[in-house]
Amino acid sequence: MKITYFGHSCFQIEVGGKKILFDPFIRPNELAKHIDFGSIKPDYILISHGHEDHIADALDLAKSSGAKVISNWEICMWLSKQGIQNFHPMNTGGKVKLDFGNVKCVEAVHSSSFPDGSYAGNPMGFIVETSEGNFYYAGDTALTYSMKLIGEYRTIRFAFLPIGDNFTMGVDNAIIATDFINCKDIIGMHYDTFGFIKINQQEAIEKFKRAGASLKLMSIGETIEK
Ligand code: NI
Ligand code: MN
Repeated sequence: MKITYFGHSCFQIEVGGKKILFDPFIRPNELAKHIDFGSIKPDYILISHGHEDHIADALDLAKSSGAKVISNWEICMWLSKQGIQNFHPMNTGGKVKLDFGNVKCVEAVHSSSFPDGSYAGNPMGFIVETSEGNFYYAGDTALTYSMKLIGEYRTIRFAFLPIGDNFTMGVDNAIIATDFINCKDIIGMHYDTFGFIKINQQEAIEKFKRAGASLKLMSIGETIEK
């Protein structure tokens, strides 16, 4: 798999010949100004919840790319009212088989509203199962005991976890989450974008190391192979 970071919680994963983009928030992100937005052409856009810092570029990218949007019912309906026709609505606990693999929606403990404050359905995380292995994208969430279900019933090769604290779990709880999901290979997200979620990156990496886990903090625009 090829993973590209576009800042905050936005990653593109290339697997099975498809490009899957998570939580597009690129143009409003001061730290992602160097990203060539026009060159982003996903096949799928997965959206974890309705907050601005996860959905800001979803409408325009869905329009320009024609990508299929996978999200909760409310977010799909919100996009459909704005002209998007290629979407697949889901809800927590549900799974769908797609051409690159399976997507399962799992619990995220957070809130979810649209930029105008209206209700945006349940916040979710995603487990993506592919022939090249499975990964977990947690979305915005607290540490939850239900993450243990992921570790008990799925083999997760690597996971995207929020580590910025304040609005989501922070580094210490993310380390506990690595035990719950039984996966020690973590890519950090949802940190340093705004004042509320600033972290000490070196300290976070060291803490993970001391706990027997690995935390990768990608540079914005960087692509890695997994
Ligand atoms: Ni949020
Ligand atoms: Mn957020």
